[in-house]
Amino acid sequence: MAKRTVKDLNVAGKRVIVRCDFNVPRKDGVITDDNRIVMALPTIKYLVENKARVILMSHLGKVKTEEDKAKNDLSCVAVRLQELLPDVKVTFCPVTRGAELEEAVAALNDGEIVLMQNTRYEKGESKNDPELGAYWASLGEVFVEDAFGSVHRAHASTVGIPTNLKENGLGFLVEKEVTMLGKAVDEPAHPFVAIIGGSKVSSKIDVIDNLLKKADKVIIGGGMAYTFAKAAGGTVGDSLLEMDYLDYANKMKEKAAAKGVKLLLPVDNVVADAFSNDANTQVVPAGQIPDGWEGLDIGPETEKLFADAVKDAKTVVWNGPMGCFEMPNFAHGTEAVAKALAETDATTIIGGGDSAAAVNILGYGDKMTHISTGGGASLEFLEGKELPGVAAANDK
Ligand code: 3PG
Repeated sequence: MAKRTVKDLNVAGKRVIVRCDFNVPRKDGVITDDNRIVMALPTIKYLVENKARVILMSHLGKVKTEEDKAKNDLSCVAVRLQELLPDVKVTFCPVTRGAELEEAVAALNDGEIVLMQNTRYEKGESKNDPELGAYWASLGEVFVEDAFGSVHRAHASTVGIPTNLKENGLGFLVEKEVTMLGKAVDEPAHPFVAIIGGSKVSSKIDVIDNLLKKADKVIIGGGMAYTFAKAAGGTVGDSLLEMDYLDYANKMKEKAAAKGVKLLLPVDNVVADAFSNDANTQVVPAGQIPDGWEGLDIGPETEKLFADAVKDAKTVVWNGPMGCFEMPNFAHGTEAVAKALAETDATTIIGGGDSAAAVNILGYGDKMTHISTGGGASLEFLEGKELPGVAAANDK
């Protein structure tokens, strides 16, 4: 059933809590990519224009120690938000409970914003502590879930608040993500090609299983392909390998064949004699990697094979890079796939995390139909799992 969205809620003059995902990358305390803040703006602007009193909440990084707290202070986000919304009053509240927070909320006028300190300053956040969820809910009258990157977490701020605050719905970002990913996976235009990369088979089993039920072709690249090569009897030198998953890899090939799904694996690899951009390299056939060498990218023949496979596609979903794209000498395979996607007429959906970073770093971001802002969340969506933060929102 469709979920209520922010447009279905009466927000004028109301204290509206918005859970955002402001978990942005930083270097020396400076935000290096503000995409997640920018992507939250449509909901925030809508609320401001509609005279809500906006209480923003988000996590930032992982917080286990006092030192982590200092490293993950959310005030840098308030500064950036104020720059992005120069005409709106944005206040930062440095605490996550108590009089100072309650006073900051009470002082809000219509169309103003307060950003609360990192939700993970509270130990109860990740445990979905009922007392914490109820307390945060008591600060507002309406709740909007707009943290797509966090909706796979059943935390106090993502699930505890809407459980206590029945006047709730999804923000524009979550609505868009769920619609775009949902359409691609549940009602794809065919041919539907799924490209799965990344380092580990073990972390992609569920997504492969789910997409095997829906796709016409499944392409496997990245570090996980070496486990498939080994399972087929090949040698993989010092490449990434999950010995416990050899059986799985073979069974998965059988499953694909039984379902009539075309499974494409690398036919060649770029291998290196060290895990370094400056290492010596050579191109070898897949499954023939000599000792002392490790595969760090797909090779040129594989690039052609994969690019051809998406040419006539109508829908492509891509999750996980083809190689160690962070090192320029091993980014060619990932770039070839990004370029092939940019050149198709297909609807192209990029999972968050590494794939999104790769597509943006390599300069193909604006050529894709949709790039998800959620890493773990988009993966769980592609696995077909229910996302607790979305499930907690009210139905229409
Ligand atoms: C992400 O970066 O994927 C989200 O912000 C979730 O972060 P988490 O994995 O620390 O919960």
